Amino acid sequence: MSHIHCHIIPYQVRDRRTEWKFGALCYNRVNMDIYSDYDPFAWMYNRHWGNSFLPTLMPILENLVLSKLPREGRILDLCCGTGQLARQLDILGYKVTGIDGSGEMLNYARQNAPAVKFLQADARSFRLPSKYHAVVSVFDSLNHIMTLKELKMVFSRVRDALRDDGIFMFDLNTEAGYLHEWDGDFTIAEDDHVCLVRNIYDSTKRIATFDATSFRLHDDNWCRTDVILSQKCHAPASVKSALKSAGFSDIEAYGFNWESGMRILDANARRAFFLCRKTE
Ligand SMILES: C[S@@+](CC[C@H](N)C(=O)[O-])C[C@H]1O[C@@H](n2cnc3c(N)ncnc32)[C@H](O)[C@@H]1O
Repeated sequence: MSHIHCHIIPYQVRDRRTEWKFGALCYNRVNMDIYSDYDPFAWMYNRHWGNSFLPTLMPILENLVLSKLPREGRILDLCCGTGQLARQLDILGYKVTGIDGSGEMLNYARQNAPAVKFLQADARSFRLPSKYHAVVSVFDSLNHIMTLKELKMVFSRVRDALRDDGIFMFDLNTEAGYLHEWDGDFTIAEDDHVCLVRNIYDSTKRIATFDATSFRLHDDNWCRTDVILSQKCHAPASVKSALKSAGFSDIEAYGFNWESGMRILDANARRAFFLCRKTE
């Protein structure tokens, strides 16, 4: 037993506390695991969600971010998921890097956008050279950051990755979004897979859960996977003040509704887009 302890404990400590990845380019060095909750859901996400936000997102991104970047500017897609946005930005000529915590999501990203560099790292702890003209994080990815303290850690990591004057844009689900669009169940049923989703929003805790049970047909067998993904409803005022304290300026927040598009950020907006610049 003591022999086993000698070899296993140091390895576990190193593995859990200090994740060195990608040589000198990018590493995590924190007392937390890399977020990987999407791993069992990656196939389903790639199939049904990966492309779904792009038609809505691209004109907004063009207006808020791309129109202000140099041609071939460098963009970091933080929490890039299955890489469909990264692919689109690559096609437009930008130099794109994608970061995500889920290795399975990144496997699809590498297939979807073969020319893009993808790195597995956590948004709360990644480090990259400060070279990006813009960092974007879309489709409510940062709602998965469950505390304001950790959101501030993300903002600080983003700031370090940006060039002076670089742009940071991200969107978050709002309270109205959770109250009106999150609650309820739905089902996807196709010949070779079925997905049952139970969406619940707890307005007291401001926590939303996406609880999915899926079945996929493999060699005449139906294989079951269960996943629960959690999100936190961050108040826009707290987000703005966290951005300011992390060293961002020119902070703007816009509202968005699926029917009417961009609008002012009031209590009825279903989603919020935040735009800011790194303060020199
Ligand atoms: C809703 S998906 C959005 C994916 C992609 N941005 C898109 O538009 O399709 C959220 C993504 O954020 C990633 N993610 C959530 N928290 C993360 C964290 N702390 N570090 C790295 N990735 C994270 C998940 O693995 C997942 O791929």
